[in-house]
Parts: sequence; C-alpha cells; structure tokens
Amino acid sequence: QEEEDVPKELDRQQYPGGHLSIYFASQTGTAESFANQLEREGAEHGFFVHVIDLEDVEVENLLDEARKDESVSKALFLCSTYGEGEPTDNSVQFVSEMKSRIGGGEEEKKEDNGVQNGEDSLAGLEYCVFGLGNRQYEHYNAMGHFFDTSLEKVGAKRIAEIGLGDDDADLEGDFETWKDGVFWPTLKKLYVKEAIVSTSNGATEELPETPYVVEYVSAGKPAKIALDDVHSSSRYYFSSVDCPVKVVRELRSKEAEGSTVHVEVDISQAKGITYQTADNLGVLPENDTAVVTAVANALKYDLDAHFVVKSNPKHEWHGAPFPSPITVRECLSRYCDLTGSPRRSDLKLLASYATDPIDKKALLRMSSKEGRAEYKDKIVQSHVGLVELLKLCPSIQAPLEHFLNFCPRMVPRYYTISSSSSVYPRTIHLTVSVTETAKKDGSVYKGICSSHLADSLDRTIRIFDRESGFRLPSDTTKPILMIGPGTGIAPMRALLQEREYQKTRENKNVGKNVLYFGCQNRKKDYIYQDELVAYQKAGVLSDLHVAFSREQSDKVYVQHLLSQRAKETWNLIDDQGAYVYVCGGVKMGHDVQEALLKMVTTEDNRSAQDAKSYLDQLAKDGRYVQELWA
Ligand SMILES: Cc1cc2nc3c(=O)[nH]c(=O)nc-3n(C[C@H](O)[C@H](O)[C@H](O)COP(=O)(O)OP(=O)(O)OC[C@H]3O[C@@H](n4cnc5c(N)ncnc54)[C@H](O)[C@@H]3O)c2cc1C
Ligand SMILES: Cc1cc2nc3c(=O)[nH]c(=O)nc-3n(C[C@H](O)[C@H](O)[C@H](O)COP(=O)(O)O)c2cc1C
Repeated sequence: QEEEDVPKELDRQQYPGGHLSIYFASQTGTAESFANQLEREGAEHGFFVHVIDLEDVEVENLLDEARKDESVSKALFLCSTYGEGEPTDNSVQFVSEMKSRIGGGEEEKKEDNGVQNGEDSLAGLEYCVFGLGNRQYEHYNAMGHFFDTSLEKVGAKRIAEIGLGDDDADLEGDFETWKDGVFWPTLKKLYVKEAIVSTSNGATEELPETPYVVEYVSAGKPAKIALDDVHSSSRYYFSSVDCPVKVVRELRSKEAEGSTVHVEVDISQAKGITYQTADNLGVLPENDTAVVTAVANALKYDLDAHFVVKSNPKHEWHGAPFPSPITVRECLSRYCDLTGSPRRSDLKLLASYATDPIDKKALLRMSSKEGRAEYKDKIVQSHVGLVELLKLCPSIQAPLEHFLNFCPRMVPRYYTISSSSSVYPRTIHLTVSVTETAKKDGSVYKGICSSHLADSLDRTIRIFDRESGFRLPSDTTKPILMIGPGTGIAPMRALLQEREYQKTRENKNVGKNVLYFGCQNRKKDYIYQDELVAYQKAGVLSDLHVAFSREQSDKVYVQHLLSQRAKETWNLIDDQGAYVYVCGGVKMGHDVQEALLKMVTTEDNRSAQDAKSYLDQLAKDGRYVQELWA
C-alpha cells in the first residue's frame, strides 16, 4: 500500500479510535468482502479503516508508521483456509515469512520459540483474528488458528478471542455475531475514549461511498497496465490468456442423467501458459447473455457504451479492478457475479439504492439479524442472484460506479488438468462435470463455468495455470495408489499418461500403478472406461478397482473396496513406499481417510492417534496428496 494513500493526520473528532488495519487472506473473495463491509462500518465506530491485501505486505509492514496511533498499530486479520489446511494464494508469502520468523514446521509447536523482544518482534501490534473455514474439511480454520497463535509468538498482543466462521453452516451469521458481539465492542472499549462526531449531513438520499469513478469514453481497447497497479484479487483478469477449445466430448452414456464432458484446450499459441501434469487450470467463465441483458435493462445501462474505471480520490485505491476501456457488456459478462446469492451485508448496501420504500424495507429486513430465516428461504434456498433480485426489487437504480462496488467480482473456477504435459505439451485436457440445480420456481440453474466449458467447442476460453500438489515420485520405481471417483479421476488420468510415458518413451523402470475409481453404474457414468481397460491390458495399470455404487441394493464406494484390500494396501504403502493420491468430493476424501486410518490401526496394531500421526507424516513427505472440493 502506498503511503500517499493514507491521510497523515486523522480528524480525531470523526475518528477518535484512530487507524485500523484490516488484512485479508482470501481465495474466492469472501474474506475480502467482509473486510470491505468493516471498512464501510468503520466511521460509525470511530475508526479510519485501511483494507489491505496480505499479498501486498511483508511482516514488518504490520508496524507501518502511517497506520499507527502513538506507538500502537491496531489490526484485524480475516483469514480463509484453502487446500488442505493451507494458506490462500494471496497469503502464501506472508505465511511463509511468519513461519520462518517463528521457526516454522515442527518448531511451531514448541512453547518457547516466540521472538519476544528481538529485532523481529511485533511488539506494538495489537490484533485479533477472524478465521473463515468449512467444517467439512479436516483442517478446519487451520489458517485462522495459525495467524492467531503465530502473531502472539512474535510479540504482538491479542486483544480479543479468535472468531471462527463455518461456510458449511452460516458463515456470514458467525461473522456478524463475532464482529458485533466481540470485535467492535473490544475496539470501542480499548481505543475510543471520546464521542464520535459524525460528518454525515444525515440526508437520507446520500448514496454509499464507492472507490470507483466511471468515465464514459467514445471507444478503445483495454490499456496495458503493470500488474503492480492492479487490484491483487483481479490479477487473473489481466494475466489470463484466450485459448481455443478443439474438443468437447460427452463422457457419460446416453442412458445416464447429467453430463460430464472431456474438453481439450489448444495452448500451442498461448504465450505464458505452460503446465505440469495434473496441475490446476483456472478458467474465467462468462455470464449468459440473457442474464447480462436482464441486468443492463433493469439498471438502464447501455451495453455498448465504453468506459474507463478510475479511482475515487476520496477513497483508498487498491488498483484497477479489471482492464478498461471496456464495454458495459464485456464488464457484466466477464467480471461481475450476477447469479450468486448476494450476502446479507450486500442487501443492506442494495437497500440504499432502492427508491421504493417497500423494496427498501424488504431488503433491510432480510439483511438484519432478525431476517436471517427469511433471507435463507427467499434468497439462498431460492437461489436468487443479483439478476433476479433486480427483477424482484425494480426500484433499485445505481450508477455504474456504485454497481461495481456492490456487485461481487466473478471468481475463477479451477479444474484439475487430466493430461500429462510430457505427452500433450500443446494441449490441456479437462474432465468437467456439468452442474445443474433445480430451483424452487421450477427452472434449472446451470453452473456458470461448467456449462461455459460444455458449450465451448470451437470457441476460446480464458485460462491460467496454477500449480497443484500432484507430483509423481522422483524415484519412478515407487508404486502409486490413486483414489479418484467421478471427476476425481482427472489427475489420475494425467498421472497414468505420465507413468506410461516414463515407461515406454523414457524406458524407465516404473512401479505399480493402482487405481480406485467409482461411479453409479458401468453402463452410465463409467467415464474413460476404454482408456482404463486399455491401460490395464498394456500393463500400465497394474490394478483397477471400480466401485459401482448403484448396481446393488447396498451402496458401494471406493472406501469400501479399499477396506476390503486393507492388507495389500498397507503392504503397498508401508513396505513398498507407495505414494497415495486422492481427488474428488470432500465427503469422499474424509471417508477414504477413515478407511486408511482403520487400515493402519488394524494392520500395524497402532492406536488411533498413532495412525493419525502416520498419515500426517505421509502427507508431510508428499506421499499422501489430497485435492478435495466441497
Ligand atoms: C482445486 C479444484 C479442482 C477442481 N477440479 C475439478 C475437476 O477436475 N472437474 C470438475 O468438474 N470440477 C472441478 N472442481 C469444481 C469446479 O471448480 C467448479 O466448482 C464446478 O465446475 C462448478 O462451477 P460452476 O461455475 O459450473 O458452478 P457455479 O455457477 O459456481 O455454481 C455452483 C453451484 O452453486 C449452486 N448455485 C450457485 N448459484 C446458483 C443459482 N443462482 N441458482 C441455483 N443454484 C446456484 C448450484 O448448486 C451450483 O451447482 C474443482 C474445484 C477445485 C477447488
Ligand atoms: C478447494 C477448497 C479448499 C478448502 N480447504 C479448507 C480447509 O482446509 N479448511 C477449512 O476450514 N476450510 C477450507 N475451505 C473453505 C473456505 O475456507 C471457506 O469456504 C471460506 O469462506 C472461503 O473464503 P474466501 O472466499 O475468502 O476464500 C476450502 C474451500 C475450498 C474451495
């Protein structure tokens, strides 16, 4: 953050609490949106709030003079957990710096490794943490806890108990309860000694502040811009590349319900796109044209108008949110999430733009604590996105610069690449399950990105590469055990291609390849069956175990087949040093882990705790890799 963004002298009457820094670690934007919400609320509590992306700071910046009051820096950390208990992309650097300050890894657990008064000390930092996580994951809120304990170890002072939010239940409710019950009251008690003098003129028609200014221009193409001048959560909008899709093929049979497609993307002409076998591919989807038109009509925007987005000088600027000049159409199509359910805090913001008192009242009611049940029923469970909300509350009218503030950004979706970069250096394969959800009104919601991909033949898609944890053993003689039902087969297909390449083209001695796959029925959704059978015949796939969940009265899943072969699996892992890869739904990953734990306890006569330590060690050694999505 540039120092010049920060006012040197605060108006102490308006901000008796002084400066407050809110740092966020966010992967899909929720923690960032909570930070923005607190920024909006800051003034009414007497604080000048600085929202800061953790990507933009090093640990020593936490004590920046420009955000200090006397000798104290006040900070809140909003931390999401990603991967398997891992930091979000924008906090990887920061977390690694913190780890090295406190001794890292195993050392973290020691009691006395804090840097209390040394040069590295963060004495003078007074902080609290709110963690965003999901209880379905094994390492629930691991990063929230990491920040909470490690900051104390380096000499910072915790001023409030950590708050934890569960995205599997009511994350926003958890956050609201913590911020109103713990966070603001603690800050008020510690730092606000005088009454707050509001500078608002109290006029009801006053619109909320927006960080943007929109300037309409005659035409023009997006200007080149240095990545440093880009809002860090929008980097992908600037760095991703358009690539043609050459193949889209249905993988399920005609009798099957639903759809899973095999997609091949040509990257031969793409500058800056390289990949490694079984990496993740980030895809930036586009909204349906009908949705874009409906939003533009509701808000009376000219879809063909060009505009440039600039900073509002009254507001801290965090960089360009997306490339411009751009048309309104392109902006709504690519950069705005128009179909996801708005949060309750968004409804409160939207109420400021509703001119009809009935709309305003309904929005405010659903945004309040008392309106939680109604919000859940009418917005979340009815799958009402911004596009529908604008229909339900037609009096909402907002200038584009305001719309850009309250409409969430479109987030990229990730897909595990199902091809080997050695075999297909110029093509990326994806295995995509097309999501469909029946809505209460009888219509069907089609997942934005999966349907965009299913419909992408002979079109281009906008993509970027991201490293995954799937790496084959450097000692090729080691066996691998792959567990990937449904679309979880994607990385396993890539690994199999790579192992075949190592064996047949590099003439390496390659260990056993064992695969556990699962689907409902062999005649319906046994995807890539031909390839798997061919690998088996060629001796590349040593063992193939398929769980057909719906071919008998009892449901049979991969974890059941794994348990049936506990002895040979244990031998493969413990005696032969196999690497284990698991990919697919979180629930499946959890059940597979349970089966593995049971195997360790029974086959090696260990306690449950020892079995857990055994698997933890495997994961640390890179021999137990999971990629699970909810
Ligand atoms: C690391 C990683 C790897 C992944 N790899 C793969 C892979 O290899 N293959 C694969 O298929 N997937 C994979 N996924 C999942 C993938 O990223 C997407 O989450 C998935 O394709 C759904 O995205 P979507 O845009 O189609 O759906 P979205 O539009 O994001 O909707 C997701 C779900 O939300 C609900 N929903 C949202 N809005 C509405 C609404 N207005 N009305 C009704 N319902 C709504 C629906 O239930 C819908 O199915 C992976 C995820 C991660 C994190
Ligand atoms: C791929 C993926 C992995 C996740 N891993 C974890 C995890 O290990 N532990 C946890 O508590 N939550 C996990 N979560 C849940 C997120 O932390 C939670 O949804 C959070 O609200 C996301 O916030 P963000 O939008 O700021 O990134 C994961 C979510 C995804 C999509």
